[in-house]
Amino acid sequence: MINRIEVPYTYRFADMVDCLDDAGLLLAATKRSGESNVMTIGWGTVGVVWGLPMFTVLVRPSRFTHQFIEDAGEFTVNVPSPDMRAFVDFCGTRSGRDVNKFAEFDIASSPGQQVQSVTIDPCPWVYECRVVQKNDVLPETFAPKIISAYYPRGDFHRVYYGEILGVFATE
Ligand SMILES: Cc1cc2nc3c(=O)[nH]c(=O)nc-3n(C[C@H](O)[C@H](O)[C@H](O)COP(=O)(O)O)c2cc1C
Repeated sequence: MINRIEVPYTYRFADMVDCLDDAGLLLAATKRSGESNVMTIGWGTVGVVWGLPMFTVLVRPSRFTHQFIEDAGEFTVNVPSPDMRAFVDFCGTRSGRDVNKFAEFDIASSPGQQVQSVTIDPCPWVYECRVVQKNDVLPETFAPKIISAYYPRGDFHRVYYGEILGVFATE
């Protein structure tokens, strides 16, 4: 079991955004049955909504992870260290339908402190979130350049608003 301490939700904010915009972050969730999955995300925001600290993520319904968040009603966002690059790339290109990503890389995980969903042990800090709102983006309300660039085949994102119940760091 990994030992982490709680830190403010603004902890290393710029580093988190840099990572999101570079290799990506790791989005994980655990079903009530106990099964877990993880995928890479490159889009998301941290801020305040409804007076709550919030991590908003966008997940296409075609992702295996989508089923996990729907079942769990919660998720974790894990910030990888630079030496985890190969794992992050793998999680962004391979589906948990075909391979157990944790086992493939021998990556340890532990239940969150505030959620049942797993956090990824080698990640230096993690966000534990409970879904308080979800909605599907509306195709007809997009600027045309976004539709053509990101949705040539549909598969419109579901947006999950995750109340940040805690951020925990090993440092
Ligand atoms: C850098 C990067 C960022 C990504 N960001 C997202 C994202 O924000 N939302 C999304 O739905 N898919 C995103 N993906 C794609 C998923 O990570 C990818 O389809 C993954 O294989 C899904 O795994 P799963 O089927 O096990 O859920 C991204 C992929 C990469 C490489």
